[in-house]
Amino acid sequence: MSSVLDTYARNPISFNRGEGSYLYAENGEKYLDWVAGIATNILGHCHPHVVKAIQDQSKKLIHVSNAFIIKEAESLAKRLTDNTFADKVFFCNSGAESVEGAIKIVRKYFHTIGKLEKNRIIAMSGAFHGRTLAALFLANNKSHTEGFGPKVDGFDQVAFGDHEALKKAINKNTAAIIAEPIQGEGGIKTLPDYCLKGLREICDEHGILLVFDCVQTSFRTGTLLGFENSGISADLCCVAKGFGNGFPIGAILLTNEVAKVMKHGSHGSTFGNNLLACAAAHAVLDIVLAKGFFEEVKTKGEYFDKELKKLKDEFPKIIEEVRGINFIKGFKLKVDNNDFMSKLMKHKLLVVKASENCIRLFPSLLSTIDELDMGIKIIKKTCEEMN
Ligand SMILES: Cc1ncc(COP(=O)(O)O)c(C=O)c1O
Repeated sequence: MSSVLDTYARNPISFNRGEGSYLYAENGEKYLDWVAGIATNILGHCHPHVVKAIQDQSKKLIHVSNAFIIKEAESLAKRLTDNTFADKVFFCNSGAESVEGAIKIVRKYFHTIGKLEKNRIIAMSGAFHGRTLAALFLANNKSHTEGFGPKVDGFDQVAFGDHEALKKAINKNTAAIIAEPIQGEGGIKTLPDYCLKGLREICDEHGILLVFDCVQTSFRTGTLLGFENSGISADLCCVAKGFGNGFPIGAILLTNEVAKVMKHGSHGSTFGNNLLACAAAHAVLDIVLAKGFFEEVKTKGEYFDKELKKLKDEFPKIIEEVRGINFIKGFKLKVDNNDFMSKLMKHKLLVVKASENCIRLFPSLLSTIDELDMGIKIIKKTCEEMN
């Protein structure tokens, strides 16, 4: 009997080693890992550069209080602002914490500029923004909020991708719109570029803030932040997961205009700016910001998409739709996603479940074509078995 609170439906398997795209079970069996810690190990397991950065930093200093200047966090924030829309960064530890912080900053912004009535945020149906109370009621997914009332107020939801409904939902109390560029938990549902551009236009027209939750999408879209393919800019952006390649880190990226309202004591986090987290994130940026990295992600992503679509064409009774872009991909299935996943696992491929009877495929961005082919071959074999 486990002493860990039983909040997860776990597979009866445990891994004790990871290397690149592979996980090794206690009995020595090798699995191709397209769970990637749920879109977290973007560079595969135990990437040597990330491991070395954490090791080296751990010998110098692990943690120091935010009462002092932390140069590693300063330089990390500088790299992020140099390479994105943002002018400032707040570091925290997880995706939910970054969403929670973004909600606070949106409210504080309108409070500070004297528009106290603007205190509601519009989210999309099917969204997932994390498990803290405000993040839960922001997304308002009944299966997650059940039993956790009273409801945290200040959030409205509109149907995913319905611009007319969105326009109607905006009123004098609306402060911001929050969206995932691709809904991960929601079933790899992509907001097309014209929708993202439309969101920016609506926000500008109404003088409200645009917040992107890129916790799951970052890097995998072939860009640093998940909305950048659209060419638009955000006011705030939440990130976490892949930024530490498995080491916990989250961040809120924001513009100077919004950042100006946050003063000493407005927000905080003991572990935010932690030195090991900064070391891991610096190491990730060393790799992803190297010349040609994202071009290669996009080239491999196109290949991946083409091969997945071939499977859909070959097995129309199994696969309903191929979703997502580059390395944030998924299938909407016609057969039960749990059955499909169990079969993939028997053939040593690990994938993640999502809403709408989907599975999510998160290969390491450093996967070779051979490794992508290996996973595709296992999916094909599974389709043949279930056909
Ligand atoms: C889009 C999005 N936002 C927020 C979160 C919450 O992140 P965390 O689990 O690190 O709190 C997730 C987690 O899956 C996510 O996908």
